[in-house]
Amino acid sequence: MGMRMVVAGGTGEVGKHVVAQARAAGHDVVPLSRSSGQDVVAGRGLAEAVAGADVVVDVLSVATTSAAKATAFFRATTQHLLDAERTAGVGHHVALSIVGIDGETRGYYAGKVAQERLVEAGPVPWTVLRATQFHEFAPQMVRRTSVGPFVVVPAMRTSTVAAAEVAAALLALAEGAPRGRATDLRGPEESELADLVRRWLAATGQRRRVLRVPLPGASGRRVRDGALVPGPGADRGRQTFEQWLTEAVAQR
Ligand SMILES: NC(=O)c1ccc[n+]([C@@H]2O[C@H](COP(=O)([O-])OP(=O)(O)OC[C@H]3O[C@@H](n4cnc5c(N)ncnc54)[C@H](OP(=O)(O)O)[C@@H]3O)[C@@H](O)[C@H]2O)c1
Repeated sequence: MGMRMVVAGGTGEVGKHVVAQARAAGHDVVPLSRSSGQDVVAGRGLAEAVAGADVVVDVLSVATTSAAKATAFFRATTQHLLDAERTAGVGHHVALSIVGIDGETRGYYAGKVAQERLVEAGPVPWTVLRATQFHEFAPQMVRRTSVGPFVVVPAMRTSTVAAAEVAAALLALAEGAPRGRATDLRGPEESELADLVRRWLAATGQRRRVLRVPLPGASGRRVRDGALVPGPGADRGRQTFEQWLTEAVAQR
């Protein structure tokens, strides 16, 4: 029997795969995004959308490197979703987070830490999946951090994973019972983010230059030295960056 599944951020990089895969599996899927008429930051349109849902999957995001902006976004969206879920009697909140963010107080990751805390302390039974960066993070970087002919990329060890495989893991978790923190999900290899961005630029014929910038402070050092790559015991996606790249370029 299909479930009624709300996907907050259902038009995003991972959200669009969650929506497509959940529909293919026979679920009744309600995507939430500003482009489909709901604003989760403002809490607009949530009560109607969440009514009757079995599970809410949160894959919302905001493009910012400001800790204050990211924290405000993830606090507001998580609080509004949890409030609407509690009122509607929804029994499962599934959130996607990022491997290795413990103790982060800077940048985007600070927002994700705040989100995890609210979910863990919240009134709705929950599951949190932490994944590594997506393969799709390479083109996201080009779109978001290009300055003239340059793309500014933080020095970062990463084990990127296909967004479609993250979506499949989220869907399986959403179909099951709440389980708290799920096993971390990583990709099949480990790479330097700047190299992946260079490969994306080369494969898509873009002449931009990548500037690999070590971020300051202890947090920057951690990211540079591999804190965002999980230790042993993580689940591994199967599609390599190269396989994903070939497919993504063919689809352009
Ligand atoms: N990207 C990565 O490499 C990566 C890796 C690990 C984990 N994650 C996590 O995965 C999640 C999704 O990331 P993503 O890269 O797939 O995000 P994304 O492509 O930037 O998509 C963000 C989604 O949120 C929606 N949204 C933004 N503001 C909204 C608002 N006020 N109200 C309603 N909807 C709103 C967007 O739709 P509209 O613009 O139409 O509103 C879109 O559907 C995030 O929690 C992120 O931390 C990402």
